[in-house]
Amino acid sequence: MGIPWRFALRMTDDHGWILRNEIIWAKPNPKPNSVFDRFNNAHEKIFFFTRSETARFDLDAIREPYNPETVARIERAIRQASLGASGKRDPSGLAESPNIILSNIAARWSAGHAKGKIPVDVWTVPTASFNGEHFAVGPEALCLKPILACCPLGGVVLDPFAGTGTTALVAARLGRNFMACELNSRYAEIANRRINVP
Ligand SMILES: C[S@@+](CC[C@H](N)C(=O)[O-])C[C@H]1O[C@@H](n2cnc3c(N)ncnc32)[C@H](O)[C@@H]1O
Repeated sequence: MGIPWRFALRMTDDHGWILRNEIIWAKPNPKPNSVFDRFNNAHEKIFFFTRSETARFDLDAIREPYNPETVARIERAIRQASLGASGKRDPSGLAESPNIILSNIAARWSAGHAKGKIPVDVWTVPTASFNGEHFAVGPEALCLKPILACCPLGGVVLDPFAGTGTTALVAARLGRNFMACELNSRYAEIANRRINVP
């Protein structure tokens, strides 16, 4: 029925939220489908909304290492840029300076960032297996990037559908406060136990 996208469009069109990303949670260990006239579903959508254009997003907190091929390409680009257009090093550092400046800028763009690359919007995370009484426990790894990038240390993370409290648990570990709502008192008890709430 496409409910996730219907929800996202209502959020933007009717309620003024800004949609930054549709993130695909790709599950390497999906449950088998119970129907046989379509592909097995192996992903869920995570919508990243903000209230304003300048909402906090701490990219440096979530950068990832480049793969070795990218590092080699970066090193080549930097070597090339430092030689300038003629391919020879300019001893004065002046004759080709506009070119060198331009190519350095180009190299920096292709070189990316010293702290790592920007994570992509497809996150491959296995589903969690919580040995308790809840069937839809979320994997802890899924909460890391949103919390690190969007909530400052000491800030507050809200999970309105907390289940067994995975989001709150990760928030606490990362030095954030949390608010969690859960309809089912049995699940709320499990959550309290997991996050050591008396
Ligand atoms: C998919 S589960 C969340 C699982 C959670 N991420 C975890 O790791 O355990 C969704 C939870 O939302 C709860 N829920 C559904 N409607 C709710 C409501 N109106 N208010 C609060 N909780 C609700 C359900 O009881 C269920 O435990």
